Amino acid sequence: MSHFDVIIVGSGAAGLSAAITLARTHKVLVLAKGDLAGGSTAWAQGGIAAVLDAGDTFENHIDDTMVAGAGLNRRETVEFVVENAPAAIQRLEDMGVPFNKEAETLHLTREGGHSHRRIVHVDDATGWAVQEALQNTAAAHPNITLQPHMVAIDLISDRHADTPTGAKNVWGVYALNNNTGRVETLTSRATIMASGGAGRTYLFSTAPRGATGDGIAMAWRAGARVSNMEMMQFHPTCLYNLEVKNFLITEAVRGEGGHLKLPPGVQDGGERFMDRFDPERMELAPRDIVARANDHEIKRLGLDYVHLDISHHKPEFVKHHFPNIYDKLIGLGIDMTKEPIPVVPAQHYTCGGILIDLHGRTDLPGLYAAGEASESGLHGANRLASNSLLECFVFGDAAARDIAEHWEDMPEPPAIRPWDESRVTDSDEEVVIKQTWTEIRRFMWNYVGIVRTTKRLERAQHRIDLLRGEVEEYYGHFRVTQDLIELRNLIEVADLIVKSALARKESRGLHYITDYPERLSEAVDTVLEP
Ligand code: FAD
Ligand code: SIN
Repeated sequence: MSHFDVIIVGSGAAGLSAAITLARTHKVLVLAKGDLAGGSTAWAQGGIAAVLDAGDTFENHIDDTMVAGAGLNRRETVEFVVENAPAAIQRLEDMGVPFNKEAETLHLTREGGHSHRRIVHVDDATGWAVQEALQNTAAAHPNITLQPHMVAIDLISDRHADTPTGAKNVWGVYALNNNTGRVETLTSRATIMASGGAGRTYLFSTAPRGATGDGIAMAWRAGARVSNMEMMQFHPTCLYNLEVKNFLITEAVRGEGGHLKLPPGVQDGGERFMDRFDPERMELAPRDIVARANDHEIKRLGLDYVHLDISHHKPEFVKHHFPNIYDKLIGLGIDMTKEPIPVVPAQHYTCGGILIDLHGRTDLPGLYAAGEASESGLHGANRLASNSLLECFVFGDAAARDIAEHWEDMPEPPAIRPWDESRVTDSDEEVVIKQTWTEIRRFMWNYVGIVRTTKRLERAQHRIDLLRGEVEEYYGHFRVTQDLIELRNLIEVADLIVKSALARKESRGLHYITDYPERLSEAVDTVLEP
């Protein structure tokens, strides 16, 4: 049993931002289930949105966010994040993030749904630079303990106390130490869930392997509400390649003039097609519209992919703006300065999550959430490009400040029972776990994807109900492994997505269902109560 002031589950942009603010006053433990840089943050390409240009305004950024979010956003959250963005960028610069500059001013790129250039970036690998700076800052702080390879299993609450009192507080986590194979009991006065998204619920996703929605499932099991889980974002341009299945081609390629085209060999092959879907904004329409257009053309014409073409620009321009993507594609035999890139839509971002307020507080005292695991009201029905990292910095910091401010009101944990392993044995059927995992991801892709129908959602719900029993039985009988923990969370999160999708009787933003093609006049969150 170990005790810390605050435990943070997640070492990405949200978790490390929170840790760095908290470390001024408190001892913090940060957990990562794999390497510290194993989350989505390190994979981010395009950049971070902030109003930094004299011709731009907060009002523009707020409007763009609300338009992309199809009006489901909570305006006070949008204002809060947008207005705190310049300060967040300054903090990152102070930590040494080498944002691209032109003549001493930050270079701003553009992405879909943005009316102005407002994306700061580090070439086309912004996330790596951000992760490195945050990690170095955190590692240098004596109040921060970084613990990779620790897989949080469940939140510790009153039901784990030696003497339960009925309190609703959260007091840390049980976590599997992958170095020792032992489950540790880690207690704290406050816990921040910064565990990222649930992209790997889908067969094709741009997200890293660990994006299995663990934090959302843990918070739900502990009694916190989750919201808008049906709002799964699909990125329009994931590389189509038989070897590399999840490499993103940043939206900034379209921002810098890239065109979507039909491949040769079909009617209108080689021509742009976005004029049939959004004639004004074309390739720079919000992501839900462009992803649906790509999906529509691929299905209508029986294609494997559509083309993303920036080869009309000078090769130096392309290489200068997208050096990492250029190198990666050259390694796969594609020269983007001379030929188009084959692309398909793939799951990319979890807009829904653990419901939080403007201070990152969840429903449960002592439990906070930030970043992709949370639903703050910023993204509504569809996230605006490059607003996600920004949300991590703003809410990581906000949660940390709230904890520091209310520290004296937070009770110390009572005596907690250690993890009981006496009733379980080692599993000899690891293969079943892997198969079930693949099955979930496949039917989520086929039945709960970009275009939905009630019948397909019900089919998915039926599969989930059947598999849930099997997974629970497995979990009850065998010693926990990372795969089993993730599978248990995956089925939980799939259930939350499907239940939310069935509850929304309209099409809005990322949720497009043919039985209800119209958008209702009132925008209402889908809030699930445990
Ligand atoms: P993550 O960075 O995903 O970190 C999650 C952390 O939680 C990890 O440390 C992980 O190990 C830990 N964790 C998870 N489960 C457990 C557990 N059970 N126990 C212990 N630890 C656990 N957004 C932008 O704004 N701009 C971009 O340019 C951009 N590009 C992107 C490109 C790609 C390819 C992808 C996939 C996403 C991109 N996004 C972008 C989205 C953005 O990167 C993510 O939303 C954001 O980084 C999420 O940060 P986070 O801190 O919430 O979670
Ligand atoms: C991208 O670079 O296209 C991803 C940006 C984002 O997800 O916000």
